[in-house]
Amino acid sequence: MVSHDTAVNRRILLAARPQGRPTLQDFQLDTSTPVPTPAPGQVLLRTLYLSVDPYMRNLMDAVGPGYAPPIAIGTPIVGGTVSRVLRSLHPQFKAGDLVLANAGWQDHALSDGSDLRPLGDMARLSLALGGLGMTGFTAHVGLLDIGQPKPGETVVVAAATGAVGAVVGQIAKLKGARVVGIAGGTDKCRHAVAELGFDACLDRHDPRLPQHLAEACPQGIDVYFENVGGAVLDAVLPLLNQNARVPVCGFIAHYNDALAVAGADRLPALLATVLQKRVRLQGFIILDHYGERFERFQREMGQWVADGRIKLREQVVEGLEQAPAALIGLLEGRNFGKVVVKVAGR
Ligand SMILES: NC(=O)c1ccc[n+]([C@@H]2O[C@H](COP(=O)([O-])OP(=O)(O)OC[C@H]3O[C@@H](n4cnc5c(N)ncnc54)[C@H](OP(=O)(O)O)[C@@H]3O)[C@@H](O)[C@H]2O)c1
Repeated sequence: MVSHDTAVNRRILLAARPQGRPTLQDFQLDTSTPVPTPAPGQVLLRTLYLSVDPYMRNLMDAVGPGYAPPIAIGTPIVGGTVSRVLRSLHPQFKAGDLVLANAGWQDHALSDGSDLRPLGDMARLSLALGGLGMTGFTAHVGLLDIGQPKPGETVVVAAATGAVGAVVGQIAKLKGARVVGIAGGTDKCRHAVAELGFDACLDRHDPRLPQHLAEACPQGIDVYFENVGGAVLDAVLPLLNQNARVPVCGFIAHYNDALAVAGADRLPALLATVLQKRVRLQGFIILDHYGERFERFQREMGQWVADGRIKLREQVVEGLEQAPAALIGLLEGRNFGKVVVKVAGR
């Protein structure tokens, strides 16, 4: 039997702050520390799956996004995990428990239990990081509480086959809206229409996106779920209807930008549209919404997924050491669905 006290704890550390796009050199696989030993009140966790999310790029910068501190150089990349309790000196957990944790990019971690959420014995554990967890919840809150689509309205979402976007579009369909997705490439667009049930999906790389979007939205846009910013936002702005709602979830097209954003200054056009069209533009950070709202999400989403009304596509990458490449790929649009890294078997 392996002693956890002497075995190595593999960790992926932030080696350097990226200049623009992250590269593999910005990360370091570290094998210099042993598996930690829990103190009274702590549990030792084994990472089974770790989540790969765009916000990790934001936390790699020296100046963080405000809702979480920047990752310090030489420390593990932070992030959500599905973990198993290996040893427990905490009264509420026992060895063998499956939990949602924030262990970050490492094989093992300690926790005092305050950040742990017990998981039932789900068939697809990784969904607790995606469609049945943080990213699905983000879609549910942003679309239903802020976007508030009504039957017959037009909803547009980009990164449409990604973790958040795919759920936004499918919930909007369940609410009777017409849904137009925008995604990177024909395979993703075909999937959005054929598998996810979107009414249309357009390739964001097509230089005629503005024209195609206007054609796909003959009644204008009532809800634009903002995931990306950039050229997609440029195409959307002229099509927003009076009293349109814009939940601002993210703007991934700019996460690798240096402080000065490249290209034209979009601010005057944005402000003019918000003013003239009486647009309600509201940002949200999903961390603020847990509690009862999460329970409602779990009930509704669990039922929709069980009924086959919402489909959840994942990209499962094997091996902790592959996490940096997975994040780099996600920021370049090479993922197809929610990205999780499988670190260990159950
Ligand atoms: N507010 C919150 O609390 C919260 C929580 C979770 C996520 N988010 C945000 O939600 C958005 C989606 O996150 P996710 O986890 O669901 O990731 P994801 O959609 O699974 O993956 C990211 C996708 O972004 C698209 N993308 C990358 N570069 C782009 C560019 N330059 N222009 C347009 N699209 C680009 C790519 O899709 P295509 O190649 O198919 O276009 C890529 O697959 C992100 O902005 C993220 O920061 C916010």
